[in-house]
Amino acid sequence: MLIVSKSQIQMKSSFWAARSEFNQIYKNFLFVSDYYQKIYGERYIDLFTASTFSKVVPSLIATKDYVNELKSDMYYQEYPSPSGDDQLINSFIDFIKRVYQLDFSSYEIMVCQGTMQAIDAISRVLNGKIVFVMDSTVTFAKSIPTANGAKIVLIKTNNGIIDFDDLEKKIKAYSPQEYMYLYLNYPNNPTGAQLSKSEFSKLIDITQKYNLQIVHDHDICFTSYDPERPAISIFADKRAIENSIEIYTLSKEFGLSGLRVGIIVGNKKFIRMIKYHNYEMNIMIPSLNQRLAALALQRADPKIISNKIQSTMKVLVEGFQSLGWTHLKMPQAGIAFLLPVPNSYVKEYGDKSGAIFSFYLQKNYGIGVGPAKCNCLTKGQYIRVLAMEPSEKCQKMFDFIKNKVNVDMEIDHRLYSDYCNIIQLAEEHDVR
Ligand SMILES: Cc1ncc(COP(=O)(O)O)c(C=O)c1O
Repeated sequence: MLIVSKSQIQMKSSFWAARSEFNQIYKNFLFVSDYYQKIYGERYIDLFTASTFSKVVPSLIATKDYVNELKSDMYYQEYPSPSGDDQLINSFIDFIKRVYQLDFSSYEIMVCQGTMQAIDAISRVLNGKIVFVMDSTVTFAKSIPTANGAKIVLIKTNNGIIDFDDLEKKIKAYSPQEYMYLYLNYPNNPTGAQLSKSEFSKLIDITQKYNLQIVHDHDICFTSYDPERPAISIFADKRAIENSIEIYTLSKEFGLSGLRVGIIVGNKKFIRMIKYHNYEMNIMIPSLNQRLAALALQRADPKIISNKIQSTMKVLVEGFQSLGWTHLKMPQAGIAFLLPVPNSYVKEYGDKSGAIFSFYLQKNYGIGVGPAKCNCLTKGQYIRVLAMEPSEKCQKMFDFIKNKVNVDMEIDHRLYSDYCNIIQLAEEHDVR
């Protein structure tokens, strides 16, 4: 339970709703993760927080690049323009040509502080009340619009693929004046699912039929494992420009989450609205960060980066297979997958089993995983695994737990009271 202050200072109820409806389990597990990270130190293996992918992907920016860039233009002496740095925008257009052979030069493009801040801006500035969100996705896609006063309507997914019938049924339940946008995320975190081009086209058919805008969070843009389902842009279907925007970020495949740089591309009117928001709110992204982002885009070799992520992913999937999870498959794309918890945990703890099995791995072995329920309220019996650590460290983890963890393992009953205690502690530290 959140502790609500009795003083005169009161927060809008939408902020409490954001935490209690969507973010509580996630924030609790960030606390659990910090707690065991301190205990295990170097031995801790973080497969949960998404705070950085720099341990997996090659480093694109060296210390001397920061220094050279800083010296070259004394960026810190002036306010940066809210419009975004041309060099970054041009580097982005060139990068997209390299990875997708798509030409974005005639599309509206803007620089933002990252995906989360883009979602904040969009859900403040757009008219309407209803944000349709696929039910398997990151918490911020639900909590940020909620904090801004929107109502979230979850759309069913099947193994991460959006259910078109459910989408259409839910769109029809509201009037067009009430729609804000549909949020999509492919490659999908947490399921590892990827839409095919024809599935994207079907989404475009449905949303254009009802005049609904699409926000595609495309945080992973070139890492996929299934040749039938590469990580494609929504603009592979040219019609998408009528009602879609796509958000790119430097946080994942480029390993630069601290830069706080993202790029939004697509429908002109939609992006203009986000620009107005950023101008009115004086949102400025430091020029140094934008120049470094441009360098990263120029230097990135998608093949080398995705091979690195793929080798971690392979070790993780094959490692769990060797512990008895024989049905586990490689994800279609991205950085995440869901792992069902051992049966004994499901029997004893039901919908909480994902949280308790995550806690078991955190506490006993310093393995930082979290409950899939953080992202997907219907997946209480799964944990989420992120490919955030180098493959060698993941391999060592499996060597260590080889005879200790398996799909048929028994429960350690002493665990439950420890779990309750740490969750209580987490909730007492409710600001994070
Ligand atoms: C699906 C997804 N989109 C976006 C982000 C974060 O993006 P940014 O750092 O650009 O705000 C995350 C971070 O975990 C994510 O999982």
